[in-house]
Amino acid sequence: MHNDLANTIRSKIDIVDIIGERIPLVAKGKNFFCVCPFHDDSNPSMSISREKQIYTCFSCHATGNVYTFLMNYEHLEFREVLKYLGNKVGIDVGDIHVSKKNNKFDKLYEAYNLSLKYFQNNLNSNLGKQAKEYLLERKIDENLIKEFEIGLALDKRDDLTKILTKKSFDLSTLNKIGLSTDNYDVYCDRIMFPLYDISGKVVGFSGRIYKNNNLNKYLNTKETEIFKKGELLYHYHIAKEECRKKKSVIIMEGFMDIIRASSIDIRNTIALMGTALTKEQINLIKRLSNNIILCLDGDDPGQLATLNIGDALFKVGIEVKVIVLPNLDDPDSFILKYGKERFDGLIDSAINFSDYKMQRLRENVDFRSDEEKANYINKVLEETAKLSDPIRREVVLKRLAKEFDIGYNTLEIRINSFIKDDKKQEKIFIPQKILEKKDKYSKAIEQIIYLMLNNDWIITQVEKEKLIFPTEIMRTLTSEIIYYYKKYGNINVADFYTYIQDKENILKFLNQVLASNYNETTNKEELFLYFKVIREFSINQEIKRLTGLMKKEVDPLEQAKIAEKIRKLRLGDN
Ligand code: CTP
Ligand code: MN
Repeated sequence: MHNDLANTIRSKIDIVDIIGERIPLVAKGKNFFCVCPFHDDSNPSMSISREKQIYTCFSCHATGNVYTFLMNYEHLEFREVLKYLGNKVGIDVGDIHVSKKNNKFDKLYEAYNLSLKYFQNNLNSNLGKQAKEYLLERKIDENLIKEFEIGLALDKRDDLTKILTKKSFDLSTLNKIGLSTDNYDVYCDRIMFPLYDISGKVVGFSGRIYKNNNLNKYLNTKETEIFKKGELLYHYHIAKEECRKKKSVIIMEGFMDIIRASSIDIRNTIALMGTALTKEQINLIKRLSNNIILCLDGDDPGQLATLNIGDALFKVGIEVKVIVLPNLDDPDSFILKYGKERFDGLIDSAINFSDYKMQRLRENVDFRSDEEKANYINKVLEETAKLSDPIRREVVLKRLAKEFDIGYNTLEIRINSFIKDDKKQEKIFIPQKILEKKDKYSKAIEQIIYLMLNNDWIITQVEKEKLIFPTEIMRTLTSEIIYYYKKYGNINVADFYTYIQDKENILKFLNQVLASNYNETTNKEELFLYFKVIREFSINQEIKRLTGLMKKEVDPLEQAKIAEKIRKLRLGDN
């Protein structure tokens, strides 16, 4: 039984350590707090309980145990998390099989996978000779071709479409997912690079021309429900592991750069693929490492992107490091020309983003002009004001004072005018609002369920009382709690979570209950008050239902019967 194994492993792991290894935590009372990684936020609205071994976000209601945390945070499957944690505590999980849920996109993945195999085959066939030559010419050898699953779309117009329709894919699907247009293949005569989602599934392709023709250099699969350019980053699924080992992530522009870096054993890399950085991507990057190195193309657009991305990340509290390549190079061409050692050297000597910005500010300033000089100094101060470390600010001020022979005090007064006084104080989010919005019935119901999750005796009481909750979801959740309790002899929220993780319908409700601020303990007297509220609610519901029935009833005799029932209910005599 996997639950038993999962519970054993979980009991040897502290969720506080696991989350703490990934996100900075602040201790407050008996709980820990952090910025919730599951929604866009800069307040520490997620709390982690060492005692209960669960986390709860008061803002977005993300809740769960160490398994759900790693599954969601690292985009792993349960089985993979079990392996990872088992490994950590020295328990061999072996080759366990956890049944995989059917995904409504399975058919799409299948289409891309079949296409992938087909493209790979083409490249190795006789018809792939010229493409192979092109790749080898670019020093993309067989190993890299395999590693990155590179293939070839033939110059045949409808080969793939035919193959896939024979395999029971209908044309409209193939059109919708960007593999066919009408009866023809979208990709003709292009070298095909599969694009992966963050868990490593193929969700599209980028096809590159390899002959001298005037077509677009790259042709990308159109966006679908599983391929949203703004929500993925090339090579992310590999970088996840590598970044943990190397303790850094290198961001590049194109997948050619990633492929080249891999040839010199640098794989803690991701590529943007020609898009501006989105919020989702920033959240993804933050998860890889807090040591982020930008290594974009050396040309003007590349340097402009460095400024934009650096600023975007600075705003969410990350100061990246920057590698500046020679003007005509991208990582691909640099590595080809100068080799691994020089590239490693560049990584080691990457500079802080704010220093990079200072350097950029200096460019084209005519220091003989007082006005330009003053302008420059003001800009430097404005940038420096953004640094949160007062020591770093002082270092810059001292340097400026010396270089331009300006009084330190003058600089200090000026920089203070740039420093915002509302330098954010970390506040802990207090979830009172959530409670206030609910009516007293929902509150009573959720309170009882919360109490059940924390106290064995309340489960027994609820069962004894034969309490009936008004909705299907509530009933299912409570009967699962009761079932779990009977099976394991006690209730433990963290383990209950493992047990329930596939039952999506009740999971959401459970999260809602856990994310609200309910009492953990109670006494019998109080408990019976809650019971009373719930009974009252059920009775009112029933009266409402019967009243509706009565209105529709035409037979006066039947009407009288219903009226009598209602009367009895009102009297509490049922
Ligand atoms: N890109 C694209 N469409 C284009 C050009 C670029 O989608 N017409 C995306 C691709 O994902 C590419 C990235 O932008 O990986 C970077 O573009 P570029 O620097 O032009 O590509 P390189 O990596 O230099 O590719 P190559 O060396 O093959 O020219
Ligand atoms: Mn290039």
